[in-house]
Amino acid sequence: MSVTTDRSAIPPFGQPFIPPDPESDPTAAPASMAIELEQVNMVYENGCRALLDVNLRVKRGEFLFVTGPSGSGKSTLLKLLYGEEKPCQGNVTVNGTSLAGLKGNQLSKLRRQIGIVFQDYKLIPRRTVSENVAFVLWAQGFTRKEIHRRLLPTLKMVGLQEKANCFPHELSGGEQQRVSIARAVVSTPPILLADEPTGNLDPDNSHQVIKILQRLNSIGITVIVTTHDEHLVRQSHHPVVQIREGRLFRVRG
Ligand SMILES: Nc1ncnc2c1ncn2[C@@H]1O[C@H](COP(=O)(O)OP(=O)(O)OP(=O)(O)O)[C@@H](O)[C@H]1O
Ligand SMILES: [Mg+2]
Repeated sequence: MSVTTDRSAIPPFGQPFIPPDPESDPTAAPASMAIELEQVNMVYENGCRALLDVNLRVKRGEFLFVTGPSGSGKSTLLKLLYGEEKPCQGNVTVNGTSLAGLKGNQLSKLRRQIGIVFQDYKLIPRRTVSENVAFVLWAQGFTRKEIHRRLLPTLKMVGLQEKANCFPHELSGGEQQRVSIARAVVSTPPILLADEPTGNLDPDNSHQVIKILQRLNSIGITVIVTTHDEHLVRQSHHPVVQIREGRLFRVRG
């Protein structure tokens, strides 16, 4: 398969991600916001009102926790950000681009700016750890050499270099979660969305995962993490919003 792609937004691997400065880069999005939701309402086809009048602005380089009980709308919020669901009302803007009306290639291009850690990992069962991570790069048209250059440092970052040739069923839950983080960040996207990345982990593994996410944030990646884990949130100093019955409230920061 041959895929052509504009990877101008992607820095060389291992380099800090520096968000474009609109004054020095005329092609950069003018917004300093990574994410903006304005008056967003989301009703699923079955009539379930998942989000109500949600307003949220996340600055580039911010680390935001989204908390809230099960069924409150956290995953729905993330799905709107990467265009898996569309709002019934309101605007969703990512890195200065409105998602309204984006289709096909335009949506794929926008999604390349977003790494996603799914609540249920979504690893390919018959592929090794390396193949699962490399697949993203291959699908985005990276050269074999570049894939090779990025793979090992990314696996090392999540502590999985020893497991590179294992299949998902040979890994613990925490290890599978770290593969999904490696896969989300191997193309160095400027935005990372992590849906309950510590949901199935013990406190030690949870702490490890949050440290990895914080390290990614420290090189300039905007990180949005949903979690039920109030303890984890209390231990950190990051801004927090809470969703309750589809409504979003700012708790801290
Ligand atoms: N595809 C769908 N079709 C219809 N309703 C849905 C769909 N997905 C989610 N919902 C409903 O939307 C509401 C919000 O769901 P969502 O998955 O966003 O919650 P959540 O906060 O992520 O929950 P959890 O913490 O359990 O992951 C729930 O009432 C859920 O039942
Ligand atoms: Mg969820």
